[in-house]
Amino acid sequence: MIYLDWNATAPLRPSARSAWLTAQDQTWANPSSVHGDGQQARLVVDEAKRTIARLLGAKPNELVVTSGGTEANALALAQADLSKPIAVSAVEHSSILRAVPSATLLPVDQAGQLSLSALATDTDFVACQFANNETGILQTHAVAAIRARAPQARILVDACQGAGKTALDLPTLGADFVSLAGHKFGAPKGVGLLWVRNGARIQPVLRGGRQQQDRRSGTEDPALTSALAAALTDALANHLDEAQRQRELLSACFTLIAKTLPDACWIGHHAPRLANTLSLGHRGISNEILVQRLDLRGIAVSIGAACMAGKGEPSHVIAALGIPPEVARSVIRISIGWQTTTEDLMTFAQGYVTECRQLLGLQE
Ligand SMILES: Cc1ncc(COP(=O)(O)O)c(C=O)c1O
Repeated sequence: MIYLDWNATAPLRPSARSAWLTAQDQTWANPSSVHGDGQQARLVVDEAKRTIARLLGAKPNELVVTSGGTEANALALAQADLSKPIAVSAVEHSSILRAVPSATLLPVDQAGQLSLSALATDTDFVACQFANNETGILQTHAVAAIRARAPQARILVDACQGAGKTALDLPTLGADFVSLAGHKFGAPKGVGLLWVRNGARIQPVLRGGRQQQDRRSGTEDPALTSALAAALTDALANHLDEAQRQRELLSACFTLIAKTLPDACWIGHHAPRLANTLSLGHRGISNEILVQRLDLRGIAVSIGAACMAGKGEPSHVIAALGIPPEVARSVIRISIGWQTTTEDLMTFAQGYVTECRQLLGLQE
């Protein structure tokens, strides 16, 4: 299989696997236990948190380890005062949209940038993403603009798609909360983070043994936390060169496609974007059929978010960008990573062109 769905999840990095196995074998005790084994496990968790904090420009006590991005978002959103105005961007992930269904939806312009004209100045809580999971479009000025318009607002930045793909210095993002999902950059599934500015006290969602300063109860896992630290270390080790390589691969792929299919379009091509994502459309094609046909060719791509697949609904992200429905229905997401090769993308480009030509009735 040629795997081009890295924004859905990334394969486990060898360094993360080995960190997970080592901690699981050697320091599997409960880090809250007072005996020696427990204290060894505590050292491993604390060391991993220090590594993660260093890589993200954060302090260890600002990090709350969660089960992933969805839980990190839910924990941040649980801090919102629901009796006051709350706003989220129209292109957020469903883990945000569904957690605060009464929130005001802030539209984006055609370049995917947040428009704040609907943001009430007394808004209590705003969620805006760092990078979009379907298009890779980055919100470059959103936090500063939100602060200027609604100074009281607490801000959550969902960085699940940015972390590990680009270097992040969390405090300088200007938010109060930032969420991360480990499996998007090669940690195992089931671990993520919420960064809480200055390690502030927050209302827990999970109440129990008061772990993590009573911000998230539940036995801490030395193995998952170590694997998260190893994956992030690895992901950031040469991320600039890797991003450049991925940018060139996707550009070459799109150029090849557009040569034969001049109506092919790259959604968000001219917007600031993650290097690994190509949101590709062509009027007259059904993305559902295309994804199945590519799958039969051994190529894994997706229609927007994996968690929305099979729902038969047009992507809210593509619709929010004002893309006409006949193009929106055709859009597929190609997202790549460190294992993706030139050959993978050339095979995809040829497969895409052949299938599109058949679906458009241009060849048998
Ligand atoms: C932007 C964004 N936020 C949140 C999530 C949820 O993360 P998780 O799957 O770790 O719960 C995802 C995952 O698809 C995402 O892309």
